[in-house]
Amino acid sequence: MSGLIVDSPEAKQLFTRASGLDGTGGDERLKRIMQRITTDLCRTVEEFDVTPTEFWTAVGYLTRLGQANEAGLLVAGAGVEHFLDLLVDEKERQAGLAGGTPRTIEGPLWLADAPLSKGEARLDQDPEQGTVLFMEGQVCDADGTPIPGAIVDVWHANTKGGYSHFDPSQSPYNLRRRIETDDQGRYRFRSILPAGYGCPPDGPTQELLNHLGRHGQRPAHVHFFVEAPGHRKLTTQINIAGDKFLHDDFAFATRDGLIPEVVRHDDPAEITQRGLNEPFVTIKFDFAMNREAENLPEAVVVREHAKAA
Ligand code: BEZ
Ligand code: FE
Repeated sequence: MSGLIVDSPEAKQLFTRASGLDGTGGDERLKRIMQRITTDLCRTVEEFDVTPTEFWTAVGYLTRLGQANEAGLLVAGAGVEHFLDLLVDEKERQAGLAGGTPRTIEGPLWLADAPLSKGEARLDQDPEQGTVLFMEGQVCDADGTPIPGAIVDVWHANTKGGYSHFDPSQSPYNLRRRIETDDQGRYRFRSILPAGYGCPPDGPTQELLNHLGRHGQRPAHVHFFVEAPGHRKLTTQINIAGDKFLHDDFAFATRDGLIPEVVRHDDPAEITQRGLNEPFVTIKFDFAMNREAENLPEAVVVREHAKAA
């Protein structure tokens, strides 16, 4: 016996009954998970001598977190979304899957049904003073065979770090597009270099981060879902090299292999050729997709998303 109340027969019976394990109805797996979570929570309360006032402060915090629709932010900031990636990576390794573009977190800011076009797209529809970005690449199999007809769903923040839909100052689907790869598996788009995202400064996620002595900033990045029949859906991001927060992301999403070179072009002839007046940047990034197979963890993640108006 540990001597802790949480390990007493009375507490154990309480957690068993509270999770429905003494009855027959409901979902057996959920009951067991609920029992574990309740027991671990109460163990933490007891071992850290959490006072009732501290406990109810935490309950109030979680209520405000939900009301502010920031649960997805906190999960990323607490490192749990990245941990889920580590788990899937390991399961894939154990199943013998190697190669392929590294995955990284989706984050809470994707929106379904972005405009779809073939081969290329322009993402920036709202006028903004930003550095023009041309990005292109190829979607291939893990063995290098191009995949025509793959869907590259791309979304990123504007030059203030805001995402359309969540930032009402932007027009619907600004900086969000889906591009179907051409017959050589190629995609390309024009956009503007994003700024890094920062948690809402007065929101509950930043409030907790402040208590942990942490910032709530992400380096500038561009998100991708890449999907092709017979292949595992890829959820990833590229980071913009040189960003102050490149290796200090509050959401822990920066990974080796996801930091392509950002090439700056200031040759006047090149600028004119692109129909521009200012220097611009280019990024080349190819995606390597793994084939779907049995006994692999799910690659299509079902989670709640914001609904477009
Ligand atoms: C983002 O992708 O911008 C993001 C990811 C996790 C939490 C908040 C934002
Ligand atoms: Fe993002």
